[in-house]
Amino acid sequence: MNAPAIARTIADLRAHVGAWRAAGERVALVPTMGALHAGHIALTQHMRAQSPRVIVSIFVNPTQFAPNEDFSKYPRTFEADVEKLTAAGVDLVYAPSPEEMYPQGFTTTISLAGPAHADLEDRFRPTHFAGVATIVAKLFTQAAPDVAIFGQKDYQQLAVIARMTRDLDLPVEVIGIETVRESDGLALSSRNVYLSAGHRALAPMLHATMQTCALRIAAGDEFDAVLDAGRIAITKAGFTLDYLELRDGDNLGAPAGAKKLRLLLAARIGATRLIDNIDVPLPRRA
Ligand code: PAF
Repeated sequence: MNAPAIARTIADLRAHVGAWRAAGERVALVPTMGALHAGHIALTQHMRAQSPRVIVSIFVNPTQFAPNEDFSKYPRTFEADVEKLTAAGVDLVYAPSPEEMYPQGFTTTISLAGPAHADLEDRFRPTHFAGVATIVAKLFTQAAPDVAIFGQKDYQQLAVIARMTRDLDLPVEVIGIETVRESDGLALSSRNVYLSAGHRALAPMLHATMQTCALRIAAGDEFDAVLDAGRIAITKAGFTLDYLELRDGDNLGAPAGAKKLRLLLAARIGATRLIDNIDVPLPRRA
């Protein structure tokens, strides 16, 4: 396999994309912050199957981290990432510097409402989605892809990006794909490397608890009682629970009357914060 080209500047990125466009080729973008795992590779494979040209961006975006978060220690594994992307047959890695993305004097931030204010991640990370939306909008205008893909593990992020893309008329198709999991159910995440062996052994109970809740909801049990039982189980296992919430899967609003249900959680153990979510079948009517 040929190693992907590496673009460090917007001009270099645009030169590659321009040549592909001139040849009439469809271009796909997989935005990442690096520390790539099988979930990211699944995103690239999904894009590879439908687009002749696949770009993976690697940029640990400072504006989506609050001062108390893990920006400086976020895993950075560029060489290993490029090896994985070579094996995955990616055409181009776009890895700009912070100065390329946020040159001196940069002051613009996208202001969000709707799914960005769903009282989920935003309750605990109030500045996070403005940083995500701003960097994703910049990546979209820089790379001008036909399509971009994101994992459903960051379900609220996906909703925010889909809404922002529609609202700003950005000509990019936004796709979300199913979360990739370890065999014991733990959702793949670049932050899983922070887990101690003991915490790693406990972590799959989060997915197992969500599945139990989903089964009970589908069977017709009362939402609040199910969520309370789930919250107690997670807390008893040693996690600090930020939230376990059932929401309308389309707009992250209240679940009553929704056509699609989604169960979402964030929980902390040691210094690691884990998020996850699953689809919940609609309750069977009595
Ligand atoms: O999901 C991520 O890795 C990041 O939030 C993203 C979408 C690449 C923006 O920095």
